[in-house]
Amino acid sequence: MSSNIPKFEARALTRTYGHGKKLRTAVDNVSFTIADGQIISLVGQSGCGKTVLAKMLLRLERPSSGELYFAGKPIAAVHDRREHWRRVQAVFQDPFSAFNQFFTIRSQLKSSFRLFEERPPDAEMEARIDRALRAVNIEPREIDGKYPFELSGGQMQRMLLARIFILRPEVLIADEPTSMVDACSRAGILEYLMKLKRELSMTIVFVTHDIGLAYYVSDSIFIMHEGRIVEQGSPDEVTQAPKSEITRQLLDDIPQLNRDWLERATPAERGAMRAKRMVPAS
Ligand SMILES: Nc1ncnc2c1ncn2[C@@H]1O[C@H](COP(=O)(O)OP(=O)(O)OP(=O)(O)O)[C@@H](O)[C@H]1O
Ligand SMILES: [Mg+2]
Repeated sequence: MSSNIPKFEARALTRTYGHGKKLRTAVDNVSFTIADGQIISLVGQSGCGKTVLAKMLLRLERPSSGELYFAGKPIAAVHDRREHWRRVQAVFQDPFSAFNQFFTIRSQLKSSFRLFEERPPDAEMEARIDRALRAVNIEPREIDGKYPFELSGGQMQRMLLARIFILRPEVLIADEPTSMVDACSRAGILEYLMKLKRELSMTIVFVTHDIGLAYYVSDSIFIMHEGRIVEQGSPDEVTQAPKSEITRQLLDDIPQLNRDWLERATPAERGAMRAKRMVPAS
């Protein structure tokens, strides 16, 4: 069920680091609304502030000024951040940093249940882990007894997604979740994300450099540059009639594969792909 209350609302949200001459504004006076159940893409070049903004949504970073509301309440209204993390989860660029190298993957998937107020019985936890692994195409015995360093980057990224299947958050923040995998598995990961979205009716904030990818998966695209949101609109508005020079540059940077598609496909074909949230694979 989607609600009329936006999941996030930001007003003049700003995050700076350092003081005096060393002051750096990572996120500069941004305002936006993210509706319940939407998929938003944050697109921009390296260093433009995407991750810092994502971290504020996760309560991993505090705003320096401005307001940020989650589900209608100031984001810091609830004292315990774990309560926020039950509802808002992330998949980050480097999947290895999200897992401890000294514990088996399975035991760490199991420890995800610690975030819950009430932990299910052991057998149910195990069954839910198995289901989550299968949902991301991993046979549970493939990872039995294995540690993070024994898996590939792509497999580890799927472990992060398995954790999302276990936690079933309302919001998923996916920061370059496809950066460590090749184009083919990238389409696979995106497919899992969309599957998650359908099954859990999640709101997704998708962070990427690639506006071509954002085109296929989003309801709305925010273009960031030097900490600001310089343009926002529907994927068609932003890619077919860009208003900002920055957006035009990002369109020039689209990997050839996606660009061919965007240029060749008729509006109807593009619409059909978007309706299915499909990404051209090759
Ligand atoms: N903890 C920090 N202390 C100081 N500066 C920071 C900190 N975190 C981020 N920054 C700065 O804020 C700016 C935005 O960084 P951010 O990580 O959000 O970029 P990004 O858009 O995610 O880039 P990328 O696409 O490379 O991941 C950068 O200039 C970065 O150096
Ligand atoms: Mg980043």
